[in-house]
Formats: sequence, structure tokens, C-alpha cells
Amino acid sequence: DLLTVMATSIVDDTPVSGTLLLLLLLCILNPALTCVSTVRTSMAGPFFWAGLGPILSYSRFIWSGIGTACNYYNKRYGSMVRVWINGEETLILSKSSAVYHVLKSAHYIARFASKQGLQCIGMDGRGIIFNSDIPLWKKVRTYFAKALTGPGLQRTVGICVSATDRHLERLQEMTDPTGHVDVLNLLRCIVVDISNKLFLRVPFPSSEKHLKPYLFKNTVGQKSIYKELQDVMESLIETKRRIISESETLDDDLDFTSELIFAQNHGELSADDVRQCVLEMVIAAPDTLSISLFFMLMLLKQNPEMEIRIVEEISEKDVMTVDFQNFRVLESFINESMRFHPVVDFTMRKALEDDVIDGTKISKGTNIILNIGLMHKTEFFPKPNEFSLENFDKTVPSRFFQPFGCGPRSCVGKHIAMMMMKAVLVTLLSRYSVCPRHGNTLSSIRQTNNLSQQPVEDEQSLAMRFIPRQMTTT
Ligand code: HEM
Repeated sequence: DLLTVMATSIVDDTPVSGTLLLLLLLCILNPALTCVSTVRTSMAGPFFWAGLGPILSYSRFIWSGIGTACNYYNKRYGSMVRVWINGEETLILSKSSAVYHVLKSAHYIARFASKQGLQCIGMDGRGIIFNSDIPLWKKVRTYFAKALTGPGLQRTVGICVSATDRHLERLQEMTDPTGHVDVLNLLRCIVVDISNKLFLRVPFPSSEKHLKPYLFKNTVGQKSIYKELQDVMESLIETKRRIISESETLDDDLDFTSELIFAQNHGELSADDVRQCVLEMVIAAPDTLSISLFFMLMLLKQNPEMEIRIVEEISEKDVMTVDFQNFRVLESFINESMRFHPVVDFTMRKALEDDVIDGTKISKGTNIILNIGLMHKTEFFPKPNEFSLENFDKTVPSRFFQPFGCGPRSCVGKHIAMMMMKAVLVTLLSRYSVCPRHGNTLSSIRQTNNLSQQPVEDEQSLAMRFIPRQMTTT
């Protein structure tokens, strides 16, 4: 999400889902390595070795990706480890007591990243995801929270179901001569459509046309892409301003972009704030949800007995009227997928005060990575390294399962994200059985783990066949 959103490869033209991803990576792995660290703590971690330690540790982050490097250090040195990123001391935590402490505390509501990196992508003191200007972040977060909870949430199911149906109607157009569909592309189309309908509401053909090169296969790798994305967003917001000024009556239920534009008109936000917030909102779901759904479709075919149980559950209910709380098997499947193969593996915070975590002193200003992905595989769950619904048979205490984080700086879209995933899956699975190209499994396809885990987008890995299902829903 953004988090995720942020990490696409900056060195090559890996798919974009991660426009943002790119960004993050850029932020964190700022090439201007300045080893200013002179403080050496007694905490577990690689040696300083006259400055060689920070260089080696930074190289590992660049070379293997952030997620992979975090797992390496936690497995090698323990659940609380000190490394260096960009010359700064950084703690990687994977123990639930420590992770939960940070998530819940108001002392860690800032994030860390390289200032120049963030400036490049417009996120330094702007938007929400990486904004560490705390008063401004608090202000913009209320707009995100309003759009992603309450009445906004109610409309979500209908919008997700109709967007999914609409794209499935056009499946033929996306099917190649061998009968396969690039399923990640399809999921992105669905999710971009949903995000537009929920948050922006600018006539879709234009936004699709404009956003497509950036949100889908982009040829990024250069910082300039971000500038272009901002320009595209600026023109969409201009269109939105025109729509608002030409409409005679105002909706009672204003969408996210309208709310921000009014806030700007009242002098509460700048035009740059508005543009950056809309951009981050529109990119959040395509970057996280579509890839999560892709992993879920892969996992489903690898576990046919789960598919049978889910399809049975779906066939017993009416998606438009039923409370999604009642999709128990589907919910366990989604949770288990996010635990076993998450898109967002970790999150980054900064200590705003001196503190003590699990008996260890933490100085104000310390950078912290919460390695949630590893935490989900080392504590509580009965079959931590297997994909099994048994892992969610018992109610899981919240401190052991945090795919969206919790507390003041958690994923502000967590409720809507769950609802969107359920609505898209229910609609899709009630119509089709989806089969990856012969031989493809989650462990056989190539993946990267920088700011988020995602498939390397070659045609072979993403191709799936859609086999119509004979099913009656009530
Ligand atoms: C932040 C996960 C979907 C909006 C985050 C964080 C995580 C996360 C782990 C960092 C939380 C922390 O630091 O404690 C996910 C996952 C998703 C998802 C796994 C889907 C499977 C979404 C969606 C939206 C969204 C659909 C909005 C439409 C955000 C925003 C933040 C965030 C705005 C930054 C919040 C802040 O810094 O105050 N997400 N997310 N996410 N997420 Fe999500």
C-alpha cells in the first residue's frame, strides 16, 4: 500500500504495480550513503567494523530487497536486531510483544525514509503514507478515515460487485489465443475502476486512459515517472473541480476528492496536499489488493479442498444482502493468505521519544522496521509454515496477527480492503474457476521482495484460464 505502494524496483522496469513501491525503495535506499552513525549499541546485529558493517548491511538491503534483508537479519541475529540503512541505525523487530508495543504507541507515529528520496516523489511532508509532518498527517488522515469507513464503506460492496462483473463480461477481450488471461492486469483494471468510483469519480475512460501507463505496466525506473504521475493526477483533479463547479446540487455524500477540494477552497489544505492525497488514495488499492488477490487465486488452485468449501459457502448466500461477516471460510482463507504470503511484509516507523521496548532502551530518533511477515511465521499459529485454514480455527489474539498494522498509524484502508477482497472474490469465484498456467505455483513463479512481495511480471507467471462455473447463487 502504500506501503506497498512504494517499492518498485528503481533499477529496472519491473511492473509497476508499484509506482509507489518504486518510490519507497528510492526513499529508503538512497544511494548517497552517509555513514554518520557513531553510536554503537550493544544490541544484536552485525559489527560496525570501522564503518564496513554499515556498508555491508546497506548493500544487503539494496541487493536482496528490504523484505528479504529483514528476514535474513532477524533469522541470523534474533527478533530484535540493529542494522544500518543509509548510514542510520535501524532496528528490525519481529517479536509480537515488541511489534505490538510500537504499533499501539503514540511515540512511533512517524515513519523513516530518506528525505531526498521522499522529495523526489512528492511524499516529503505531503500525502499520508510517508508524511512525517505530524500535524498535517493528522489532518489528512481524518479525510482518509472518513472516506474509508462509515457511509463510504457501505457503498463499497455494490461498487466492487458491479466493477468485477463488468470486467468479467469483457474477459474475451483480455484472453490470448491460448485461452489465457493476464490475471494481474485484469485484477488491476477491476481495482482501479473501484478506486476511481469510490474516491475520485471522474468519468472513467479518461482516468483509465491516463492512469493506465502508470498503474499498470510502466517502464519506470526513472524518477521522472513520478512527476508525470503527479501531472496526470493534477489534470484529473482539474476535471473534478470543473465537474463540481458545474453541478447544480451537491451530493450529501461527498467523495474523497470533493472533500479535499472543499478543504482547499477553505484554506485548510494546499493544492499540492490535495493532489498528493488523491494520488496516494488511488494508488493504494491497485498496488496492494490486486497483488493480494493474485496470490489468493494461486493459493486457491493449490488447495482444491479449500476452493470447494469457499464455493459452497458462496452458493449459500446472496452477496448483495448478506453481511460479509458471515463468510467465515472465505475470511479465514483471506487471512491465511495474508499471513502465509503477504504483499506487505513490514512497515517502517521512527521513535519520536525515548522509550523502552521489551526491556531494551530505545533512543528518540531511532528508525524501526516491524517485520510483521516473519512475526506471522514464528509465533502463535499451529502450522506456521504451512498454508492451512487450521491456523484460523481458533480466534487469533490481535497482537499475533497484524497484516494491516493497528493503532494510530495503521492501514487506514484495512476495513475497506477486507470488504473489497471479499466482494471481488465472491463475484469472481461464483462465476469462474481460475486455473494458473500448467505447472505454475506460488513457489515456482519468480517474485521480488523489496517494499512489498510481488510477482515478476512475465507473461507465463501471470497467465490463468477462466473456466465458467455452473453455480446458482440465492
Ligand atoms: C498503510 C497493509 C490496502 C491505504 C498500511 C500499512 C500496512 C498496510 C501494513 C502500514 C501500517 C503501519 O505502519 O502500521 C495493507 C494491505 C492491504 C492494504 C495488506 C490490502 C491487502 C489498503 C487500501 C487502502 C490503503 C485498499 C486505501 C484505499 C493505506 C494508507 C496507509 C496504509 C493510506 C498509510 C496510513 C498512514 O500512514 O497513516 N497498509 N493495506 N491500504 N494503507 Fe494499507
